[in-house]
Amino acid sequence: MPETLRTFVAVPLPETVRDVAARLQDRLRHQGLSMRWVKPEGIHLTLKFLGDVSSDALDGIAAVLARVAAGAAPLDLRAAGLGVFPGIRQPRVLWMGIQGPTDRLIGLARRIDSDLADCGFAVEKRPFRAHLTLARARAPIEPRHLGEALAAEGGFDPVPFAAGEIVLYRSELKPDGAVYTRLATWPLTRTAAPD
Ligand code: 2AM
Repeated sequence: MPETLRTFVAVPLPETVRDVAARLQDRLRHQGLSMRWVKPEGIHLTLKFLGDVSSDALDGIAAVLARVAAGAAPLDLRAAGLGVFPGIRQPRVLWMGIQGPTDRLIGLARRIDSDLADCGFAVEKRPFRAHLTLARARAPIEPRHLGEALAAEGGFDPVPFAAGEIVLYRSELKPDGAVYTRLATWPLTRTAAPD
């Protein structure tokens, strides 16, 4: 019987970014924000959430991701700023932002999305918004308090990092948080930026 795996495609982050993320989480916690904090080692830049897939489908997904990675160049990005989805009045996700050639990052996410449609995955209806999730809300947060915390902590020095590979991750939901494991990795090997 094929197994079912919860999966997603993401760019892994170097320790430099995860360290700054962990420090920001501490500082925001000390600002009194009560949220579910993502484990720093699990923070990544998600490009596409696939959800539950049959293990039978993994080879087809891998073939698509290998082709997309071979056609994409590494990107020099920066983690910078803080924000919330969907907005300050009803925050669900608190994130670090991404700066740099985000148009090319969006292009990469779109390519993955559209090419995986051939494997039966629904095309995203919402525009891709690059972010690194630091925390998820567990109860309403007073908007003024949240705004002040974001303003107080959001001005940190941007953290440069290279997005040099894409990873197919497995996500296992455990009582004390999701555990992510790498199923496969593909370097972004194109040498020049696409025209
Ligand atoms: P997030 O960072 O915005 O929460 C693994 O769960 C990754 O897939 C997370 O980084 C999460 O994004 C992303 N993801 C996107 N859509 C999702 C969904 N419907 N359910 C769970 N995770 C989702």
